[in-house]
Parts: sequence; structure tokens; C-alpha cells
Amino acid sequence: KRVAILISGGGSNMLRLVEAMQDGGFATPVLVGSNDPAAAGLARAAALGVPIAAVDHRAFGRDRAGFEEQLLRPLLEAEPDVLCLAGFMRVLTPAFVRRFEGRMLNIHPSLLPKYPGLHTHQRALDAGDTQAGCTVHEVTAELDAGPMLGQAVVPVLPGDTAETLAARVLVQEHRLYPQVLRRFVAGERAPLMLAQAG
Ligand code: GRF
Repeated sequence: KRVAILISGGGSNMLRLVEAMQDGGFATPVLVGSNDPAAAGLARAAALGVPIAAVDHRAFGRDRAGFEEQLLRPLLEAEPDVLCLAGFMRVLTPAFVRRFEGRMLNIHPSLLPKYPGLHTHQRALDAGDTQAGCTVHEVTAELDAGPMLGQAVVPVLPGDTAETLAARVLVQEHRLYPQVLRRFVAGERAPLMLAQAG
């Protein structure tokens, strides 16, 4: 299976996915794309030998379709079987999503359906939640709402800030996403539930 990954920043989740594929051999990373040519993850992907592409979304203003049309060019050339969003911070149009429906994954830093959207950790703290975590789900036209493929749960600790909680969750993102992708590629769809232990 050929896997393309879209990032917007450091790409720490992308790195774990690429390393898992290269070590485990269960799929092939065929492209890492970004909406930001300066995304640090692009150089990290290239260092692992993965082809990269970037389309600066700021060059398109509010023309979301125009941006996606350009992003689709290298993406379709790579002929991916699966598209993973990993720290990708642009909302994609339903037309784009439809092209990959059923084979497009995203990782979101909350226990969906709680806290779709942004600032998930602060919202969990403000609500006094005792648990937090991350979710890998299939991407559908509705934001952060597709079928759930896996979750990892962490405790919220006394004195936690959004930053300390984000760091704890990110460690679990790096565990969860590669395991979910491996199962997804193998045709498995039953949600994978991980607790924080090790
Ligand atoms: C992190 O906030 C992570 O929780 C979310 O995207 C952001 C950047 O992730 N999934 P990455 O390091 O670029 O993968």
C-alpha cells in the first residue's frame, strides 16, 4: 500500500508514520506534502528519502479550491492508496475529501467526539476533565467527525497546563497513529483503544 502524508509544521506524527512503514514494511511512504513550504517536517521527510511537495496556501487567499487544486497535483502523481493528515492545519473542502473518502485518516488531539476544532487541551482543562487523549479517525466532509479508528487516553494531572497536557498527549499520538495505520492498511476497522502505560 502507498501512503501519502500531509503536514503543516514539525511533522513529529509524520516521522513516526514514516519510520513505522520503513521499519515494519507494511506500507510505503510515497509523498509528504505541506501547505507551508517552510514546514520543518519537509526536511525531516526528505532526510528519510521520502518525496516532498509544498503548496503555500497563503498564495491563494480565500481561494480554498485553488489551493487544493495545486496540492492535488503532486498528491495524485504519487498515486497513494491512503492519505494521512498529521498535524495538517487546513480545513479541506468536501470535494477534496470525496476524492479520498474511505482511505483518509487524521489524528486529532482530543477524545472525540469531545472538543472537535482547536485549543482542545485548554478546553479539557477548563471543563475539569480528569482524562484527555487523542483520536485517529477517518476523514469525512464534517470536521473531526468521521468513524473512529483508535484512541489513546492519558490522565489530566493536578497543575497541568495546556502545554504539559499537550506534551503528554503527543507521546500517545506517536504510539497510536502508526498502530492504527498498520491495522487500517491490513483492512482492519475495529477501533484500537490504548491506555497510557508504556
Ligand atoms: C500537535 O499539536 C498534535 O497534537 C496535532 O498536530 C500538532 C503538530 O503535530 N496532531 P506534528 O508534530 O506536526 O505531527
